[in-house]
Amino acid sequence: TRTAAVIPAAGRGIRLGPGAPKALRALGGTPMLVHAVRAMARSRAVSLVVVVAPPDGAPQVRTLLDDHALPDGTEVLVVPGGDTRQDSVRLGLAALPGDVASVLVHDAARPLVPIDTVDAVAAAVRGGAPAVVPALPVTDTVKEVDPRTGGAPEPVVGTPVRARLRAVQTPQGFDRATLAEAHRKFAAEGDGATDDAGMVERLGLPVVVVPGHEEAFKVTRPLDLVLAEAVLARRRA
Ligand code: C5P
Repeated sequence: TRTAAVIPAAGRGIRLGPGAPKALRALGGTPMLVHAVRAMARSRAVSLVVVVAPPDGAPQVRTLLDDHALPDGTEVLVVPGGDTRQDSVRLGLAALPGDVASVLVHDAARPLVPIDTVDAVAAAVRGGAPAVVPALPVTDTVKEVDPRTGGAPEPVVGTPVRARLRAVQTPQGFDRATLAEAHRKFAAEGDGATDDAGMVERLGLPVVVVPGHEEAFKVTRPLDLVLAEAVLARRRA
């Protein structure tokens, strides 16, 4: 049996500012998505990568990947995504061949995740955990609020104990059947889940956290691009 990676890359990246879909924007001269595919394919555990492209952008993404060198022996499928991240992941899972027993779901928006993090997640899944997420302690204190629009002051509802909080990253690793069941059961609910492991929790199954890595941060806002370029420059030095 094999481990595959599914990379949702169908987001528009509005928070990053105007321009191309986020996954296609360049980092160090190379599209973010190419970095993300390479990061998955470099792991010896991963033999297949499924890229979930913007709904109308699959041919363009196929061409883009064909134009960039990937680690030897990597098979890459490209499928069109959906309106939410959850839809996109479900569409990626549907493209997996029958011999895939475990799946890593990795955001295209986390292009710089180190190979050791990928390997650690894959190893924990192969070791029998149904769901594994890499995560880091949070540095900010986090408040829960009653959201208001338009910049009005928001009433605070609570303050979770910081020492018990973890900020979760990707790749998140799963037993394939478990993740597919979660996506079947919770398909088409509102805006969709922001994280796959949360859906497995809702099935009542155990989810475990392993150490994440600072360089697995998500490129979301303009400042994240500055940080990503600096990390790449340091790696190349
Ligand atoms: O929007 P968010 O930061 O949660 O996006 C995380 C990842 O999900 C990104 O890699 C993005 O491209 C992907 N995504 C997707 N389909 C969507 C929305 C987001 O594949 N409809």
